[in-house]
Amino acid sequence: EDLFQVADLMQPIARRQKVSRVLVGAVLGSLFFEASTRTRVSFGAAFCRLGGSVCDTTGFTFSSMAKGESIYDTSRVMSGYVDALVVRHPEQGSVAEFARATHIPVINAGDGPGEHPSQAILDLYTLQREFSRLGKLVDGTHVAMVGDLKYGRTVHSLFRLLALYRGLKFTLVAPPSLEMPSHLIELVARNGHVVEVTPSLENGLRGADVVYATRIQTERLAGETVEGYTPEFQIRKALVDAVCKPDTVLMHPLPRD
Ligand code: NCD
Repeated sequence: EDLFQVADLMQPIARRQKVSRVLVGAVLGSLFFEASTRTRVSFGAAFCRLGGSVCDTTGFTFSSMAKGESIYDTSRVMSGYVDALVVRHPEQGSVAEFARATHIPVINAGDGPGEHPSQAILDLYTLQREFSRLGKLVDGTHVAMVGDLKYGRTVHSLFRLLALYRGLKFTLVAPPSLEMPSHLIELVARNGHVVEVTPSLENGLRGADVVYATRIQTERLAGETVEGYTPEFQIRKALVDAVCKPDTVLMHPLPRD
């Protein structure tokens, strides 16, 4: 919430109504070993708008990792050149490994099916803004999470972040093979929230204040076939009108399928 106050102050800078050069001379190292549009460009654009500059590699092909260099060595070498790193990598836990190897700040921009904390923070920021417009609080709200809850890292991070609030109800709607990892459900339930799991979109969406949908992470399916992800799973206006509230907030981190 402290960050959100800073974000509010910085809105005019993002819109170029005000100028800040607070990062002049600073260099961001941007290492994206997985596909990205929004996360990579938004971090880079933010750094540039504040007067800093960005050095990047994308994919494995153009970094020394293609030559077999370790995460440890890559991180140590990069930290000699740049002031902070933002890293996306296909393996869960890999970004923490980058962080352990260096003293410069390392931001997790997505570690495989693990976490995507910056997306969760901006999702919460967006939700808080919508809720302040609607006169609602995050405490006590009903959030429906829909889609690939097994491999979708955005929902993992958002689920944990929202669990810092009080008295939420979560309905988790996923095809049978793509359910939310049980350790996350247990963690959130231990924090005093109600967590319901259902394969039925209609039941999951009924009465929700927030619907957060994600795509199926096809690139992470290890030969598994997904059953039950039928067109009936789509968030359709007719269904939202029938079972949600007039002020239900619909969210998606994109890309959508
Ligand atoms: C997400 C991701 O990479 O996890 N994209 C994003 O950063 N907004 C969601 C996704 O790929 O489905």
